[in-house]
Amino acid sequence: MEKQELINEAFKAMKNAYAPYSNYHVGAAIETADGKIIYGANIENASFGATNCAERSAVFAAYSNGYRKDTIKALAIVSDGDRIAAPCGICRQVLCELVEGDMPIYLSNGKDECTTCINELLPMQFVQEDVIR
Ligand code: THU
Repeated sequence: MEKQELINEAFKAMKNAYAPYSNYHVGAAIETADGKIIYGANIENASFGATNCAERSAVFAAYSNGYRKDTIKALAIVSDGDRIAAPCGICRQVLCELVEGDMPIYLSNGKDECTTCINELLPMQFVQEDVIR
């Protein structure tokens, strides 16, 4: 799938954002190895800490549907902000565990765009091997 197609899918997911507190809308779309699209959106909560970011929603949905690192091909994250939404620290840690380090991550706000990966977003990673010895 083309980068732009996956970005367009993420913009569809952004419509499902539940963001009554920040009014900042984020969408995510994962392309799977078998050609499916898994969507995620930010889902906020009156207890702010219970909020889930769009990319975490998407990657948890992918895992919940049986996909794993080797069957997750690409992730697009989009927002309606003035700047592209780079994943927050919690999402970087989650993505570092659940997707390949070099898997393409596309960021867009419809104006600016960039392609990155978790190895670039999160250097000096704390991973499973550090815990399970
Ligand atoms: N948010 C995301 O969904 N992904 C990001 O990469 C950055 C932040 C959400 C969380 C919250 O609902 C809103 O954006 C403002 O922080």
